Amino acid sequence: MTIDFLAPVIGADMAAVDRVLHRSLDSDVLLIRQVADYIIGGGGKRLRPALLLLTAGATGYRGTDHHTLAAVVEMIHTATLLHDDVVDESALRRGHPTANAAFGNAASVLVGDFLYSRAFQMMVAVGRPRVLEILAETTNTIAQGEVLQLMNAGDADLDEAAYVTVIQRKTARLFEAAARLGAVLGASDATTEDHLARYGMHLGTAFQLVDDVLDYSGTAEVIGKNLGDDLAEGKMTLPLIRALAVGSAADAAVIRHAIAGGGRTDFMPVVSALETTGALAYTRERAMAEADRAGACLAGIADSPHRRILLELSAFAAQRTY
Ligand code: IPE
Ligand code: IPE
Ligand code: MG
Ligand code: MG
Repeated sequence: MTIDFLAPVIGADMAAVDRVLHRSLDSDVLLIRQVADYIIGGGGKRLRPALLLLTAGATGYRGTDHHTLAAVVEMIHTATLLHDDVVDESALRRGHPTANAAFGNAASVLVGDFLYSRAFQMMVAVGRPRVLEILAETTNTIAQGEVLQLMNAGDADLDEAAYVTVIQRKTARLFEAAARLGAVLGASDATTEDHLARYGMHLGTAFQLVDDVLDYSGTAEVIGKNLGDDLAEGKMTLPLIRALAVGSAADAAVIRHAIAGGGRTDFMPVVSALETTGALAYTRERAMAEADRAGACLAGIADSPHRRILLELSAFAAQRTY
């Protein structure tokens, strides 16, 4: 499930990142290696490390710290997935049973902690205070996003602004950090760093908007996750917010009932409400607009193969089916 258009420009770097990742999972505690290999070896799109490599390349970085930091962002991402799948009670991830399904909740939470703290050991070894500052701030923001989302569960009256706050914290901020870190390694001036960071933020927002569309309209084989997990948790994502705002009284009743009750029994009626109200198409359009904003942030960045892939990546984030 990697993204094929990345390979010509950063294929070798991505292979180096994979080597760092596998080396970093080392522990004499057997269960750590089992769970960590299971989730990291399970694949994933490796989008956040790719983003860091691309902005490092676009700003002319020559060195090897980008491989370490790309592995660090993927490990932080993976730690959040281990925790997220426990919280969301999800059963499928990357096309396999989730770690919580295979090893239990306790193992998932604890190995998630291992990955977080190993990532911090690695970033300390890079020896740049600015890198530490960015990643400490980022992981804290992600945690706030996840807790905020927990507080919002079951609230059908959540508005678009509150939803956007959650997705920017839980998802877009890590994309922003990945993009910024590459620019920091490339010793960019403040304006370039800021533009690339904003590119990452818009990209990550588009990415999560589409994730929330796919939870209702993807196929489990292609997305590697079960549909309906958001509804089961009573999560008011943009498709539902939109359908509630523009739908009929009957559509609204279906959505309110599903969000108040949780579970999966209302999934099909909710999907048909999303279709009749055009709420999924609306959310896709919002993702396209975010992708366009991401692209616009690249205007002042000098042309390079890396920059061209960044532009392609923003289109992919909005159009993707996996
Ligand atoms: C899943 O991220 C969590 C979200 C922020 C939507 P990805 O879709 O990047 O997951 P993998 O790494 O490819 O499995
Ligand atoms: C993203 O939200 C989770 C994190 C950023 C930790 P979701 O809960 O929608 O992610 P998936 O769909 O489980 O991958
Ligand atoms: Mg989830
Ligand atoms: Mg999701």
